[in-house]
Amino acid sequence: MKKTNFKRHRRLRTSHAMRSLVRETNVTVDDLMYPLFVMEGKNIKREVPSMQGVYQLSLDHLAAEIKEIVDLGIHAVMLFGIPKEKDAEGTGAYKDEGIIQQATKLIKKVAPELLVIADTCLCEYTSHGHCGVIEGEEVKNDPSLALLAETAVSQAKAGVDIIAPSNMMDGFVMTIRQALDEAGFEHIPIMSYAVKYASAFYGPFRDAADSTPSFGDRKTYQMDPANRLEALREAESDVEEGADFLIVKPALAYLDIVRDVKNTFDVPIVAYNVSGEYAMVKAAAQNGWIDEEAVVMEKLTAMKRAGADIVLTYFAKDVAKWLHQ
Ligand code: PBG
Repeated sequence: MKKTNFKRHRRLRTSHAMRSLVRETNVTVDDLMYPLFVMEGKNIKREVPSMQGVYQLSLDHLAAEIKEIVDLGIHAVMLFGIPKEKDAEGTGAYKDEGIIQQATKLIKKVAPELLVIADTCLCEYTSHGHCGVIEGEEVKNDPSLALLAETAVSQAKAGVDIIAPSNMMDGFVMTIRQALDEAGFEHIPIMSYAVKYASAFYGPFRDAADSTPSFGDRKTYQMDPANRLEALREAESDVEEGADFLIVKPALAYLDIVRDVKNTFDVPIVAYNVSGEYAMVKAAAQNGWIDEEAVVMEKLTAMKRAGADIVLTYFAKDVAKWLHQ
């Protein structure tokens, strides 16, 4: 009898059923969070030119959007607010009738079960577009913390289920945790953008959120894409300070970091499939150069395989539709 001494890996790939049986990673609707851009004003449903299929919505269009999201089985939305007026201190972020606060109250009325996650940052609300307050051209750390804490508390008061601070000031998790606890919101978790790189992949988001800095860049607070150990230091501080989730952002070019963070910490890990990653797929698909559904599912599977428990993605509604088919 002829003997072969190589392994027959193909035995486990012989059919769809066999491949399904041995598949190690699955993407489900339960894993997805969907970002929404809510805007002050009336009757606005404006497609973001660089993000086909993503809209800036005024509150009068929000209920219909929420219904669609809930009907698709998506459990969580991440809110980004676009105020009418901006100022140096970003007061729109923490006033009681701010756009996020109003949007949250509305969502909680029409879909109380849907998890509302608020992006807790100042850049959409500051006239200079930075994520903290400035002195000259310097983004000041400690004076920004109090405003971020105020923002988080006001979001929690409006009914937000999870606070997601994305500003990258040092000490933000601790400051926000203390403020939430003191205000009686000790049950509200913090989903920290712990590992957030100063990335060119955020370009389209800044169109959507109108948050391009008016001078300089974010490199003194967001991380250098070249660094890996620094990601672990950032994540470690946030876990020590009380983060309940850790976000790694962007996702696709940083899957090694997702894996490192997953291997090191025992909290749920979120990968943020950011705007530039979305825009590239959309543009290529529109030209007929790639198969959008196949590419998106492959990317999200890769994010989960790398260790993400949850994926924040502009594709969430599309993915839910494909999975339901
Ligand atoms: C705000 C914020 C940004 C993103 C999420 N929150 C932009 C930035 O840091 O400039 C980017 C998300 C995306 O690109 O999809 N701090």
